[in-house]
Amino acid sequence: MGPDEGAPGALVSLSFRLQTVDVVPRAPSPYPLPEGRGGARGLRPGTTDAVALDDSFSIFDPSATDNPTTRQNPVSVLLPQGNFQPGHPAFSKVDPMSVETSKPVPRAGILDIAAYVPGKEHAPGVARVYKLSSNETPLGASPKAIAAYRAAAETLERYPDGQAVELREAIAAVHGLNPANILCGNGSDELLGLLCHVYLAPGDEAIITEHGFLVYKIQIMGAGADVVTVKEKDATVDVDAILAAVTPKTKMVFIANPGNPTGTYVPVSEIRRLQNELPKNVVLVLDAAYAEYVRRNDYESGIEVVSQNQNVVMTRTFSKVYGLAALRVGWMYAPVEIIDALNRVRGPFNMNSAAISAGAAAIRDQAFTQEAVAFNLMWIDKLTSAFEAIGLKVTPSVTNFVLIHFPDIDGKRAAEADDFLTSRGYILRAVKGYGFANSLRMSVGPEEANRGVIEALGEFLGRKA
Ligand SMILES: Cc1ncc(COP(=O)(O)O)c(C=O)c1O
Repeated sequence: MGPDEGAPGALVSLSFRLQTVDVVPRAPSPYPLPEGRGGARGLRPGTTDAVALDDSFSIFDPSATDNPTTRQNPVSVLLPQGNFQPGHPAFSKVDPMSVETSKPVPRAGILDIAAYVPGKEHAPGVARVYKLSSNETPLGASPKAIAAYRAAAETLERYPDGQAVELREAIAAVHGLNPANILCGNGSDELLGLLCHVYLAPGDEAIITEHGFLVYKIQIMGAGADVVTVKEKDATVDVDAILAAVTPKTKMVFIANPGNPTGTYVPVSEIRRLQNELPKNVVLVLDAAYAEYVRRNDYESGIEVVSQNQNVVMTRTFSKVYGLAALRVGWMYAPVEIIDALNRVRGPFNMNSAAISAGAAAIRDQAFTQEAVAFNLMWIDKLTSAFEAIGLKVTPSVTNFVLIHFPDIDGKRAAEADDFLTSRGYILRAVKGYGFANSLRMSVGPEEANRGVIEALGEFLGRKA
């Protein structure tokens, strides 16, 4: 073994100040650093611990300038074994958090995450703006939910019920479930994050699909795990592609069913097949944010599959059909063991009182909900046929939005259509980040907005709507 090689399996710690790298074996390592290591490169033993690696060494490479992260924050590099000259091909990034730097540095991978960009809200200079970019309901919340929200204002000095019992019981009553299998969250986004926090660790893999909801990727990376993205078929989740990507490292699979921004769905037979063929230690997350809108005999939101298995969870939201996006209300239906694990790490009061009581009132008002569903169904059909009539392709949607594909012709592409519509006050969602470079997603809006977009797109394409 040469002077720069470490014993395989050695525990080594490293820290540096500014650009000085200090290497020291971490107690109680039985593998002291070989004499002479570091000396050759000005490294000196004797500092306190920073990195502990069981079969590798790490060293800061001050010369690395290949990415913005490296330039902004000193980054350490990991050498599996052997010669650890900076620049050695075996170098790869290690957790910079574990290295002493001149300023706090986020954990490895955090700065690689592209932050979520919500749907646009403004159309500068336009008097009347219709926001059709976030799949919000045009009908608002049930008046009963609004009354419950107002009533919550009377007791703002009190902590909310940390178990959200009223909401869990209301959800359970409407869906015929046991409240013990329900966990509520600050939007389903929170629950997706908690699931990753609890079931993923660095080195694990989680599978998402090509056009999957961006929050999955953010949360998987946030947990330090690796994202494995598989192809969809005709903008629809492909169970075979998911199964082909499973490895011993796979710990989670995320499916939005129906999908966002595609609006397509996977029949329950396919979901069952997926569950059946996945290893039983893999958590299958069925994100059914748009389930209330679906009217298809072969669709099932996930309740049935969760009830029959130990490794499936379903997430739902009050942000869409129930019109409570501002309050952040989501829920999860899952085996009690999974609920228990998430309960241990969630914020003790993750749901606020207004969200709990407005959510409960909203789900009890199923008459209002069904009106919202009927309004949506009518407009999904009308929008789809109107856009097809002016020569646009639309992915068939079972949700409250449509994915519209534009011609690949100068002046007629999605980006130009987006500008044109925005100038008229219609804000749609560009979906490049979801793998649709020449498409826009439009949420069903109020009648005047829907008619307005149809007319404006007809004008944009030079065809009568
Ligand atoms: C597929 C999907 N899942 C989850 C969410 C997040 O919902 P929530 O508002 O409950 O966090 C959305 C919101 O757009 C969504 O489209």
